Amino acid sequence: MRHIFSTLLLGLLSLPLAAQPDGEHLWLADDGEHINCHGGNIIRLADSTYYWYGEHRVQNIPGTTEDGISLYTSRDMKTWHNEGLVFKAVADTLSDIALGCIMERPKVVYNERTKKYVMLLHLELRGQGYGAARTAFAEADSPKGPFRFVRSLRPNAGKWPADFTKADRKKALSYNIADYQWWTPEWRKAVEDGMFVARDLEGGQMSRDMTVYIDDDGTAYHLFSSEENLTLHLAELTKDYLGYTGKYWRIAPGGQNEAPTLFKKDGTYWLITSGCTGWAPNEARMFKAQKITGPWQQVECPNRGEGAKTTFGGQGTYIYSDPNKPGEFLFMADVWRPKQLSHSLHLWIPIQFENGSPILKK
Ligand code: GAL
Repeated sequence: MRHIFSTLLLGLLSLPLAAQPDGEHLWLADDGEHINCHGGNIIRLADSTYYWYGEHRVQNIPGTTEDGISLYTSRDMKTWHNEGLVFKAVADTLSDIALGCIMERPKVVYNERTKKYVMLLHLELRGQGYGAARTAFAEADSPKGPFRFVRSLRPNAGKWPADFTKADRKKALSYNIADYQWWTPEWRKAVEDGMFVARDLEGGQMSRDMTVYIDDDGTAYHLFSSEENLTLHLAELTKDYLGYTGKYWRIAPGGQNEAPTLFKKDGTYWLITSGCTGWAPNEARMFKAQKITGPWQQVECPNRGEGAKTTFGGQGTYIYSDPNKPGEFLFMADVWRPKQLSHSLHLWIPIQFENGSPILKK
């Protein structure tokens, strides 16, 4: 029955199937269904298995309602086995992760120190649309879960960016948001000066699109769209990865970057983001830095060739690098299908380099 249903569904969608995530074709797991794993990341463990975590979008409910986070496993990155939900929304309507919440862009990392698998994700509370802008933390003893909900919050309450001087704080506090009309030059200046950081100082900073990056020295960072999606924040995580140290840096204030993805090659950090156009694709942006905490410099867009203006229909979610293949990087993107998010397509592009700069070419 399930098979008949999915065949019918595939027919309706009139999309051919593929063995590769090319952003144009459905990609089936070993259960015969399109891989329902979006906005996530892949880790490879010592058992030579790839673990792919992502948003499980509910099949028949349009919009954004979630029931949890999927896991698919593979030995070759081609054939994927559906392991089901490893982190689940719950029936208790008082819980932060009550069914009806929105769980987006989960990233799982292994913590060598605690020997736990830690998941961070963008969480929106049930019935509040995209207003809550929180981060959720979950933890598991096994990569296959189950992940236990630890907490959700807005990052860095009471903390100023690490590089803000006393004068910077004073200036940020001097703005009265009500005095400014969005998108005017005066408003832009106020945003750059931290008007929204000051507004959210007490309750914590907004956190939406996100990734997690572990630096060579083992320090973990959470990188997320903050300040009404206007500015990225790079926040240092505590040693157990389940909270913040309170140190954070702003990247591209007022630049409206989403979908952050990060990697390091030959001592340079590269950050590839998208613009803010909801589910519709746009042209990726790129930044580079010699230190992860900045300064970050915006450089030429990495996209080349046909489809470059829309990042080939995709929006980045993660840059995967295989521990056994140093120097090789895979840009993983989602081709969103907002009318049926479960059938959003996967687009994976190996990053090429031209004069030392990353290039994305389909
Ligand atoms: C996108 C974002 C997605 C999702 C969507 C909702 O810009 O990258 O993760 O939040 O907006 O409209």
